[in-house]
Amino acid sequence: MGTQVREVVVALAERQYTVIIGAEVAFSRELLAPMIRGKQVLVVTNTTVAPLYAERLCMTLRCAGFDLSVVALPDSEVFKDWETLNAIYDALLSAHAERSTTLIALGGGVVGDMTGFAAATYQRGVPFIQIPTTLLSQVDSSVGGKTAINHPLGKNMIGAFYQPKLVLADTGVLTTLPDRELKAGLAEVIKYGLIRDLAFFEWLEGNLERVLDREPEALAYVIERSCRNKADVVAADETEQGERATLNLGHTFGHAIETGLGYGVWLHGEAVAAGTIMAAALSQDLGWLTQVDFDRISRLFERAGLPVRGAPMGSARYLELMSHDKKVEGGKLRLILLRAIGHAVIHAEASSAQIAAAIKRCGG
Ligand code: NAD
Ligand code: GLY
Repeated sequence: MGTQVREVVVALAERQYTVIIGAEVAFSRELLAPMIRGKQVLVVTNTTVAPLYAERLCMTLRCAGFDLSVVALPDSEVFKDWETLNAIYDALLSAHAERSTTLIALGGGVVGDMTGFAAATYQRGVPFIQIPTTLLSQVDSSVGGKTAINHPLGKNMIGAFYQPKLVLADTGVLTTLPDRELKAGLAEVIKYGLIRDLAFFEWLEGNLERVLDREPEALAYVIERSCRNKADVVAADETEQGERATLNLGHTFGHAIETGLGYGVWLHGEAVAAGTIMAAALSQDLGWLTQVDFDRISRLFERAGLPVRGAPMGSARYLELMSHDKKVEGGKLRLILLRAIGHAVIHAEASSAQIAAAIKRCGG
């Protein structure tokens, strides 16, 4: 294992688990073995990540005496669906998996969300471990227990809250991540600065190039600080009765882009970036965010190589797609907006006309 290992505890009402961050942590028998209760393990990965990292993980687990099966799903957001989910159940049943079988998700957010949902539902719940391999999944999706698949009418519409036993965020595996995916992960990183951590936003303004250059210390810091922010929010509101919704800044607009264009055309992080700019524009229209702060936000996303203009689908199409959002309550769309950089609020009073104007202003 690499020398410096960082830990973030996610403290929930009923139990807690740890996010361990550092080089080589994904392949550590000392970290993995104590967290696996039974003998059987199913590693869920995809056809891109499997040739890079599955054999190494399997060796570690085999040497620790576990009975292993592996399933490699087809790669892409397009396959975050029922049919592909079924391949995980097929693998579990073929291996005669029992209640004590542990699932390990080795991959990005798509693999993690699907494995978590399979773990939540197979025999009404089996243990699972997250080994996230993209920046986005290390800073966001592997932590907090949201699991889901997509429906043709809406992103992440079928799912469950189901927490992992352990998260191993290995900074070493990020060396093979394509640049476009690294940048997409930064959208969720910037999000934490915007919703609740002004000092982190300022740190990113000063150090973004170090992160884009994949300096190991900078990456580890970004992952740790993001996970600390996420852990605090999830500990306060595990099932999104209130504050947790702020983690969805930009997501309602962004999910409309992902669903409207077809899953996988824009990456999730790219859609979140453009969606965040739309949320910032609406926040400015409401008199909350200053022009200076709006420009600071746009500039940081631009420097991260992320889109600051939405997909030109027309505001009516956006509104139609946004009406399926999970944050619609009593027919009202609850949007996450910004009072200032570092201060998000949940706002259900924006009119369709105001929302449409912000979408248009941002190229939608
Ligand atoms: P992804 O899982 O599609 O991974 C991106 C791409 O990188 C894929 O092609 C993958 O095969 C490849 N890849 C993964 N690790 C690699 C590595 N180390 N080296 C080379 N290639 C690698 O996308 P993502 O951005 O990780 O996750 C997006 C998904 O996460 C979306 O479905 C989104 O809805 C979900 N999400 C969930 C939550 C949550 O709280 N559960 C939060 C945010 C996003
Ligand atoms: N990514 C949003 C959440 O975990 O709540």
